[in-house]
Amino acid sequence: MASIKELPSTPKTKFERIGAHTHIKGLGLDETLKAIKIKDGMVGQEKAREGAGLVVRMIKEGKLSGKCIILAGPPGTGKTAIAVAVSRELGANVPFIQMSGSEVYSSERKKTEILIEAIRKCIGVEIHEMRKVYEGELSTVDIKTAPHPYNPYQKVPESVRLTLRTNEEEKTIEAGAQIAQQIIQEGIAEGNVIQIDAETGRVANLGLSMESTKGKTYDVDTARKIPRPNGKVLKEKEFVYMLTLADLDELNARQHQGGLFSMFFGGSEQKEIDTEIRMAVDQQVKEWIDTGKGFIHPGVLFIDDSHLLDLEAFSFLGRAMESELVPIIILATNRGVAKIRGTDIKSPLGFPIDLIDRSVIIATQPYDVESVKEILKIRATEEKIKLEKNALEKLAEIGAKSSLRYVVQLLSLAAQNAKSAKKEKVTIEDVQRVDELFMDISEAADYLRKYEERMMIH
Ligand SMILES: Nc1ncnc2c1ncn2[C@@H]1O[C@H](COP(=O)(O)OP(=O)(O)OP(=O)(O)O)[C@@H](O)[C@H]1O
Ligand SMILES: [Mg+2]
Repeated sequence: MASIKELPSTPKTKFERIGAHTHIKGLGLDETLKAIKIKDGMVGQEKAREGAGLVVRMIKEGKLSGKCIILAGPPGTGKTAIAVAVSRELGANVPFIQMSGSEVYSSERKKTEILIEAIRKCIGVEIHEMRKVYEGELSTVDIKTAPHPYNPYQKVPESVRLTLRTNEEEKTIEAGAQIAQQIIQEGIAEGNVIQIDAETGRVANLGLSMESTKGKTYDVDTARKIPRPNGKVLKEKEFVYMLTLADLDELNARQHQGGLFSMFFGGSEQKEIDTEIRMAVDQQVKEWIDTGKGFIHPGVLFIDDSHLLDLEAFSFLGRAMESELVPIIILATNRGVAKIRGTDIKSPLGFPIDLIDRSVIIATQPYDVESVKEILKIRATEEKIKLEKNALEKLAEIGAKSSLRYVVQLLSLAAQNAKSAKKEKVTIEDVQRVDELFMDISEAADYLRKYEERMMIH
């Protein structure tokens, strides 16, 4: 007997990755878009959340396209958290791309190229297409072969005759080598429900028909089982695809490159896409929209730490905002007055004034002790950490003095400390110890200033 062992269907230990914002499930607003103090993993910061709520409502109604939203506030006040919440509220249908200002600097690609690509990834295109297809359960299949033109000892498929069955009718069709080949390659056999595109001849294997003899007899089978289709074998079906402008650019670029090389190697990697290709895609998309075949879903491009962008990048974004196909752009920054990168000009937030002028600014405020405590509680639950009451209090106290970011990290460190000491719960001693072992930003700055002369300077 073969040695087969059945394994439990779920693995015993699951690897969980806990990111800094995994506890954020949404903006935590009620139906009238008022913030509920603690909801969806969000605590306090009501004004910013309500502002973001309005923005989400307008995005969903398609009224905000081409606008810029700025999230401004001191470090650790939840700017990134709010952007994450916005993406959760928008749902899966709205593309949301998150990048950092520093990502535009690459030695291989132009800044504007990186930004154009990011922008195009944020614009969803829903394409509706009516296509004629032959669809049915394959009841007989007969593949004719012929000798290979260059090698008579080898046989190649020449044509195929197949019978497709639906609940209404049965139809036999004959097709050429291209379809025969696909049937062999995909391992399609009797009992499979298949779909053949009448125009292009592309064959899709949808699964095994439940009504077929094979479908009835095979108990253990990995193939997906589906019912036998209804209606006629040859029918018009509507297909809906969700793509982004970037996907369409890539598809188009690949078609243009074509040839043997791309067939074997999947095209050249990460080449910049020509402007002509993008223009052709835009033209095509507009045509689809005009004929009712396509719909646009403008998404959101979130650029964290936007003060790292330079004048060139800002001016590009400003121009992009005025074009037709553009997503909603959210910029976050923790700078007050700063130099615009690449210039000597000082400006609020480190952004050009004309950009600020046409943006909506949402400000985030530092947290009070109570809010810090609530956020820590949520983080503790998220990371499955048990805290003693006074440990939580101590953490909140430290948090109000330094930053939320710092205590969120301290929480994980204190939990690790408790675990090393084989304790169930994190106590105040764990918090004190890790607070001594690690520095927050002002401590680090003081320390470095004190020993400046003794450190390496270059
Ligand atoms: N209102 C809130 N409710 C719940 N969690 C929050 C809230 N604000 C911030 N957090 C959490 O606190 C941590 C720090 O916040 P976040 O990273 O969003 O700050 P930031 O404003 O983006 O800071 P920086 O300017 O340094 O980028 C994160 O783990 C975040 O998820
Ligand atoms: Mg941030």
